[in-house]
Amino acid sequence: MLIGRVALVTGAASGIGRAVARAFAAEGAAVHAVDVAADRLAAVIGELESEGLTATRWAADVSDPAQVERVVAHVLDAGGRIDCLANIAGVISSEPIEEVSLAEWDRILGINLRGTFLCARAVVPAMKGQGSGSIINVSSRAGAMGFAGMTAYCASKFGVEGLSRALAQELAPHGIAVNTITPGTPVHTAMSETTYRAEQRKIWQDPAVIAPAFVHLALQGPNGLHDRYVNAWELTRELQTEARP
Ligand SMILES: NC(=O)c1ccc[n+]([C@@H]2O[C@H](COP(=O)([O-])OP(=O)(O)OC[C@H]3O[C@@H](n4cnc5c(N)ncnc54)[C@H](O)[C@@H]3O)[C@@H](O)[C@H]2O)c1
Repeated sequence: MLIGRVALVTGAASGIGRAVARAFAAEGAAVHAVDVAADRLAAVIGELESEGLTATRWAADVSDPAQVERVVAHVLDAGGRIDCLANIAGVISSEPIEEVSLAEWDRILGINLRGTFLCARAVVPAMKGQGSGSIINVSSRAGAMGFAGMTAYCASKFGVEGLSRALAQELAPHGIAVNTITPGTPVHTAMSETTYRAEQRKIWQDPAVIAPAFVHLALQGPNGLHDRYVNAWELTRELQTEARP
C-alpha cells in the first residue's frame, strides 16, 4: 500500500502513465498527475473520480524547466514531501536518419531524456531532505538495443539508462532508489497504436497489467530493488506468484 506517500506521475493522461496514476491512487497514494495534454488529463482525473479515486492534475510540459519547477514547488507546498517520481511521459518517432530534422531530434530527446532529468533534478532536494524516495524512469527495449529508424528514440532511452545508472550511484547514500523499467509485454497505448506490428496487436493488453510493478518499485529504497533495468511484466508475475497462498 502507498498510504501516506506522495507520488508524482508524468505522462498521466494516457497509456502507461494513466494506468500507473490509477494504481497509485488505488493503493492510497496522494497522486500528482502531470501531462502536457490538459484536456485528456482532466478527463482521466474525472474517470478516477468516478471510481472514487482522487489525484491532483498539473498541466505541464516536462521538457520545460520552469513548468517542472513550478509543479514540484506546488506539490511540496501541498504535501511537504515527494516519495515517488514516476517519469513516464514520452514520445516516439520513426524515420531514416537523413529525414530526422534537428527540431524532431530535439523534441524526442527534450521530452524523453531532458524531461526525465528535469523532473529528477526538481524532486531530489526534497527526497534528500527526507532521506528517502524512489525514482522510476520508464525506459524501453530501445534503451538496451538498437531499432532501425529509431535513432532519436533509442538515443533518448539509452540516455535515460545512463542518467539512471549515474543517479542510482549518486542517490543511494541519501536513501533514494532509482530504477528503469520496460513494459516487457505488448501494451495497448496511444504510442503503441503508432508503432506495433500486427502480431503484437493480437496480444497487446491494457497497461494496467504492468502497474503492480510500478507500485512495487515505488516502495523501494536503495537496499531493495535499486539500480535495475526492470521488466515490468516479469516483476508483476513474480509478485503475483509470491502472493499466491
Ligand atoms: N507503449 C509501449 O509499447 C512502450 C514500450 C516501451 C516504452 N514505452 C514508454 O512508456 C512511456 C509511456 O508511453 P505510452 O505507451 O503510455 O504512450 P502514450 O502516448 O499513451 O502516453 C504518453 C503520455 O506522455 C504525454 N507527454 C508527451 N509529451 C509530454 C510533455 N512534454 N510533457 C508532459 N507529458 C507529455 C502525452 O501527452 C501522453 O499522455 C513512454 O516513455 C514510452 O517511451 C512505451
